[in-house]
Amino acid sequence: MTSGISVRRLSTFLLLIPAVFGATYNVVDSFIGPDFLNKFSLQAIADPTHGRVNYVDTATATAQNLTFASADHFVARADSTTVLSASGPGRNSFRLQSNSLYGNGVQIFNINHMPEGCGTWPAVWSYAEPWPTPGEIDIVEGVNNQAPNQAALHTTPGCSMPASRDMTGTPTANDCDTSVNGNSGCTVQFTSSLRSFGPAFNANGGGWFAVERTSTFIKIWFWERSDSNVPVDVRGGNSNVDTDNWGTPIALFPNTSCNIASHFSSHHIIINLTFCGDWAGSVYPGTSGCPSTCVDFVNNNPAAFANAYFDFSFIKVYA
Ligand SMILES: *[C@@H]1O[C@H](CO)[C@@H](O)[C@H](O)[C@H]1NC(C)=O
Ligand SMILES: *[C@@H]1O[C@H](CO)[C@@H](O)[C@H](O)[C@H]1NC(C)=O
Ligand SMILES: *[C@@H]1O[C@H](CO)[C@@H](O)[C@H](O)[C@H]1NC(C)=O
Repeated sequence: MTSGISVRRLSTFLLLIPAVFGATYNVVDSFIGPDFLNKFSLQAIADPTHGRVNYVDTATATAQNLTFASADHFVARADSTTVLSASGPGRNSFRLQSNSLYGNGVQIFNINHMPEGCGTWPAVWSYAEPWPTPGEIDIVEGVNNQAPNQAALHTTPGCSMPASRDMTGTPTANDCDTSVNGNSGCTVQFTSSLRSFGPAFNANGGGWFAVERTSTFIKIWFWERSDSNVPVDVRGGNSNVDTDNWGTPIALFPNTSCNIASHFSSHHIIINLTFCGDWAGSVYPGTSGCPSTCVDFVNNNPAAFANAYFDFSFIKVYA
C-alpha cells in the first residue's frame, strides 16, 4: 500500500529519487474472465428502486446463459427471449456484488459494452451495508440510452460539494445527503462530447472508467476506447498505477464541506441492471423518446433487450 501521504513521507528520505514521488498504487485484486464468476456473487433480491426486474441466482443465470465467462471476457445480460406476464415477476437480470470489500485506493473498469435499450438502468457502483452509513459511489449510471454518464456520491447528512471544482465534468447537484432532494445525491455529468454511456459508448468499443479514493477526496476518470491519450498503466491494467499522470478528473469530490474519511468506508463493487423503477421509469414518458409505457415495453418486447448486457475485459483494484 502506497498512499500519496505515505509516499510523500517516504520521499523525504528519498529526495534524490524523484520517480518515487507520486500517488502510486499496487494491484491487490484482479478480475478477468472466470474471476468474475468466482469473486462476485449473484444476489437474487428485490430491487429497492422498484424496477421491473427479477434478479436471478447463480443456477438460473448459468442455465439461461445470463452470465458467461471466456478467458478474457465476462458477459452479464438480461433475458431477451421471454414475453412477461403483466402480473408475474419482472425481466430476468443480474445484480453482481463483489465478495470482497475495498477501501482507499484505485479501481479501473475496462468495459467493452454496457446494457442499452429503452427502459434499461445499468450501474457500476460501490457501497456497503447498512446503507448509507458507509457511503455510495456511483461510477457508471444512466437510463433509457440517455448519454452522458453520470457519477454520484450518496451519504449520510453533512456532506456537500463546492459548486466550483477542478474537474472537467458538470456538477448537477451538490448535496450528497440521501435524505434530501429525493436521494439524487451529489452528481456530476460527464462531458457530453465523450462517448461515456449507452449506444454511443458501445458503438465506440467502450472504454475505461477509474476511481481514486483517499481519505480526503474521491476522483473519477473516463477514457474512450479510441482516445489516443489513455494512460499506459490504465490501458494495460498494469500491476502499478500512478494517478498523478492521469490528468484532471471528470469528477472531483473534495473534502471542502465533507469529511470523506467519516462518510466513506470499505465498499463492495456492484454491477447491476434494472428496468424502469424510480429513475428509468419516472423519466421514461418525458424526453426518452421511448415507445409505449416503460413496464409494457419491458414486458412485451424481449428482443429489444438483446443489447442489454455488460462485457468486461477487466476490473483491477489497487491500494
Ligand atoms: C441497481 O442499481 C441501481 C442504480 O444504481 C440502484 O439504485 C439500485 O438500488 C440497484 N439495485 C439493487 C437491488 O441494488
Ligand atoms: C452464452 O453467451 C456467450 C456470450 O454472449 C456466447 O458466446 C455463447 O455462445 C452463449 N452460449 C450458449 C450456449 O448459448
Ligand atoms: C482536506 O484535504 C486536503 C488534501 O486533499 C488536506 O490537506 C486537508 O487537511 C483536508 N482537510 C480536512 C479537514 O480533512
